[in-house]
Amino acid sequence: MNKITKLFNIKYPIIQGGMIWVSGYKLASAVSNAGGLGLIGAGSMYPEVLREHIQKCQKATSKPFGVNVPMLYPNIKEIMKIIVEEGVKIVFTSAGNPKIWTAYLKEKGITVVHVVSSTVFALKAQAAGVDAIVAEGFEAGGHNGRDETTTFTLIPMVKEQIHIPIIAAGGVASGRGMLSAMVLGADAVQVGSRFAASIESSAHEKFKKTIVEVQEGGTQLTLKELAPVRLIKNKFFQDLESLYEKCPTKEELTTLLGRARAKRGMFEGDLVEGELEIGQIAGLIHQINSAEEIILEMMTDFENARREMLEFDL
Ligand SMILES: Cc1cc2nc3c(=O)[nH]c(=O)nc-3n(C[C@H](O)[C@H](O)[C@H](O)COP(=O)(O)O)c2cc1C
Repeated sequence: MNKITKLFNIKYPIIQGGMIWVSGYKLASAVSNAGGLGLIGAGSMYPEVLREHIQKCQKATSKPFGVNVPMLYPNIKEIMKIIVEEGVKIVFTSAGNPKIWTAYLKEKGITVVHVVSSTVFALKAQAAGVDAIVAEGFEAGGHNGRDETTTFTLIPMVKEQIHIPIIAAGGVASGRGMLSAMVLGADAVQVGSRFAASIESSAHEKFKKTIVEVQEGGTQLTLKELAPVRLIKNKFFQDLESLYEKCPTKEELTTLLGRARAKRGMFEGDLVEGELEIGQIAGLIHQINSAEEIILEMMTDFENARREMLEFDL
């Protein structure tokens, strides 16, 4: 047991990151049933769709699970209302100011975690009263900080400044990665990309296959002027690069991005024109496994790596 397994009442310190178009109730409940903490990604759901996913998740698992709410999307008030009405016990907020919702959620008896990309934001989240933070490095899939601070540097710097539990995110897809994050000061890890390529993920099969095929160097952070996001270098990404050569305005970038690119790529499987969000660690993902297989493999790998370290003799 450690601070995070106690906080959430889970067996393993592995959180499945909330992911738009990827983490519905099937993935969240599979992760929770396997001893981690599953999160439903509310960012791509209309409020009533979220309600349905919460209710299905409650039927699919008796274990703790949570909901991730990226605050950059609309309908947040309605989303929070549904979360409270449906009795969700854990909420991870991201992409916004933790001051806005933390006190309200805590009053309702909900455990609140906020995702940050810097020590400054970690301090703000701590001051807002969250129970823990996710410190997410530049390697991570999805939306990201502008400063390009890597997980390896972010975790010890955050650890130096804050006293609440830390969950490391970005670049962790193995037990070895998990051990290193914990040695640096994290109490748990949040894993996104690896679960995006799981059997229970709602990503399109073509996107899952692409994640397995992506090699080291196959992703890049882009759209810093709008909301920085790490993408696979497909045709849409190349179109963005060509536009960047012309020093585009924000409006021109917004026009090229258009609407529903993420849904098109990750959910509908348009590998050419869609937005394909994934982390640098995709280069280490070689198979589409079940959530349970991923968690058990990570824990075995973690134990083996830990034993190796103990055998190291000075
Ligand atoms: C496809 C995809 C969608 C994501 N969507 C969200 C989201 O809706 N909200 C959020 O807070 N983080 C989101 N993330 C970030 C993950 O929750 C997690 O923190 C990140 O993936 C961890 O880094 P990793 O990809 O290296 O494992 C997303 C990541 C991916 C890969």
